[in-house]
Amino acid sequence: MGRKSSKSKRNKRKNSKKKSKSSKEHSNSHHKSKKHGNKMNDLQSVASAIKRGDIRKIVWLSGAGISVSAGIPDFRTKGTGLYSRLEKYELPRPECTFDIEYFKKKPEAFFDLAKTLLPGEHVPTRTHMFLKLLSDKGLLHRTYTQNIDGLERLAGVPEHKIVEAHGSFAKSYCVNCKAQYDNDAMRSAILKNEIPHCKKCGGLAKPGIVFFGESLPKRFHKMHRSDMKSCDLLIVAGTSLRVQPFSELPRIVKGVPRLLINRECVGEGGHNGFDFDSKHTQDVLALGNCDDVVSKLAELLGWTEELEARCPPRRERKPSFVENVVDSVVDTLERGMKALKVF
Ligand code: OAD
Repeated sequence: MGRKSSKSKRNKRKNSKKKSKSSKEHSNSHHKSKKHGNKMNDLQSVASAIKRGDIRKIVWLSGAGISVSAGIPDFRTKGTGLYSRLEKYELPRPECTFDIEYFKKKPEAFFDLAKTLLPGEHVPTRTHMFLKLLSDKGLLHRTYTQNIDGLERLAGVPEHKIVEAHGSFAKSYCVNCKAQYDNDAMRSAILKNEIPHCKKCGGLAKPGIVFFGESLPKRFHKMHRSDMKSCDLLIVAGTSLRVQPFSELPRIVKGVPRLLINRECVGEGGHNGFDFDSKHTQDVLALGNCDDVVSKLAELLGWTEELEARCPPRRERKPSFVENVVDSVVDTLERGMKALKVF
């Protein structure tokens, strides 16, 4: 209940912000932030700071939401998320699919999901291409991704700028003796619905993605503190910020703007959580689909053409079954009303 009312307050605020945006930009110019001339309160002010050259070192944090338009479901969205599809396995919790102890006992649920996530079947989204554009412009310092789809790499973001915080399918290994397991064999086992076993000790083999109960890659531990402390803009996109330690990353960033691009508001409250409401905040909330928000940001930056040139053409969305049924019911009703001369 409390959450709803703060959301509606925020929506009201957003609307009134829109109306008085240009006058507000002037009136707010006296709120100087640590590194930036103008107070950050919307996408326009973020774009202006980038254009002025106040922002040169962007760290970008991603979650499954940035790959949804590539056809890869996220985890926790009710109805469409991967975790909604696991009922048949009667797991104690959907997260058990990625729990190392549970995997050792019942690997089937993970291998079933792995088919959906296997790289090679999907192409990068507009958001991935926006990341590539930021990189080409020398503005992307690093991207930390929880995704295991490898789409940042496929988009052409250089490897040294990517931290795959939850690992990847690039290597596989035996959970028992840790010997490397052949990756082609892993891929073929996943596609054939087989459970792969180590050729040396017979233990279970799994792709090198990080499970709950396993530690994150060394690269993550080595780099995240200095990256978070040295960036001059943090962008967080398409994540529910529910999984630690990744969810803590935005909280390390202090004194610089943080932009959240997501379908829902996340990561508020607690120590240095997002704060989109207070007067001097530098946190900016852009609610919506990330592909749409990055398109808007590109437009504000005058980069639309450059983004378009990097993106695959937008696919025409086919109407869903429900939309078709609704359309035909409306048609029938209209025809009936006309026949009865109601209008
Ligand atoms: P979640 O499914 O938890 O969250 C995805 C977030 O993206 C949600 O807040 C959605 O509302 C939002 N979203 C979905 N589609 C979007 C779109 N097109 N545009 C903008 N926002 C959108 O996924 P993650 O936060 O990535 O861990 O989940 C984190 C970790 O939980 C995963 O890496 C995985 C999982 O357990 C492991 O595999 C270890």
